[in-house]
Amino acid sequence: MKKIITLTVNPAIDKSTTVSGIKPNSKLRCAKPVYEAGGGGINVSRVLHTLGANSLCMYMAGGSSGKHLQDLLVDSEIVQQVIPIAGKVRENLSVYDTTNKEQYRFGMPGPMVNPSEWKNTLGQLEGILSDGDFLVASGSLGPGMPIDFFAQVSHISQKKKAKFILDTSGDALLKGAEAGVYLLKPNLGELAKLCGVNTISFFELESVAKTFLKNNPCEVLVVSLGAQGAILVTNSTLEYITAPIVFQKSTIGAGDSMVAGMIYSLAKGKSLREMAKYGVACGTAATMTEGTQLCKKRDVEELNNWILTNSETCHKMKNTA
Ligand SMILES: Nc1ncnc2c1ncn2[C@@H]1O[C@H](COP(=O)(O)OP(=O)(O)OP(=O)(O)O)[C@@H](O)[C@H]1O
Ligand SMILES: [Mg+2]
Repeated sequence: MKKIITLTVNPAIDKSTTVSGIKPNSKLRCAKPVYEAGGGGINVSRVLHTLGANSLCMYMAGGSSGKHLQDLLVDSEIVQQVIPIAGKVRENLSVYDTTNKEQYRFGMPGPMVNPSEWKNTLGQLEGILSDGDFLVASGSLGPGMPIDFFAQVSHISQKKKAKFILDTSGDALLKGAEAGVYLLKPNLGELAKLCGVNTISFFELESVAKTFLKNNPCEVLVVSLGAQGAILVTNSTLEYITAPIVFQKSTIGAGDSMVAGMIYSLAKGKSLREMAKYGVACGTAATMTEGTQLCKKRDVEELNNWILTNSETCHKMKNTA
């Protein structure tokens, strides 16, 4: 299997708890909190571990919460490389109200990152990457980081002949995509931003995706469509992958699980079609678990088998029509 490196520049500790009724101006007695390591690339590393693949989880962290994050990843048996920064890792809060069964998620800003710190990250990446590696950068940029940070990561990946996969949003995604990415996994809103339009209808999707690939140095585009699954687009391929209907508990982590599933498949040498299907299986499996929990391997395998059988049936139907 090829080497996989994940990069998280704005990680978090995700703290979740439950409460019976959220109301203002009163003391709310919450249950004992659960702490989990969070942030895009870290989630990808955690899912890869669940699937049975090793990855090197690189992230920028500092302070006592940074030490807590490190301990959580040690407990999860994730191989990690911490790039030290002065600021403390942020702590997000998620509260589940047992009376109305709603989840409230509070995201905090990350610490300020100074130029020597993010430049150190680029330097360390350059030292680690080698020919044929997969590098997954996922999640937001921290305050103080340049908007073209992922473009700089792209240049390093190209120099080291590593395959760069980017899952972020906004201008950071735009700049990264312009610089060159092997695989992009935007959702519809992110693809619209990449193409400079407000919305993309289902009827426009194929042509918009093809045009995007023509105009950008990006080889593979997998647009995730939530409950509708995903579409895989390259210059010579176009395939819809339908997501199985499941009993959905929480969509948190669906995107990260999907990215992890795709990298897992790629690193095992699977085809792009198999990769996209396995990604949809992982994304959908993540919706079957509660709260911030990511996907479970048994669900992934069952869903992937369903997708493989189902798409085979669709293919046969097309051939006989
Ligand atoms: N409601 C759902 N039912 C079944 N599968 C789902 C559902 N929502 C998401 N998925 C699965 O997860 C994948 C990724 O979901 P989505 O398109 O919502 O990504 P995203 O917007 O990047 O998510 P995130 O908010 O986690 O970043 C989908 O392609 C699909 O396989
Ligand atoms: Mg996403």
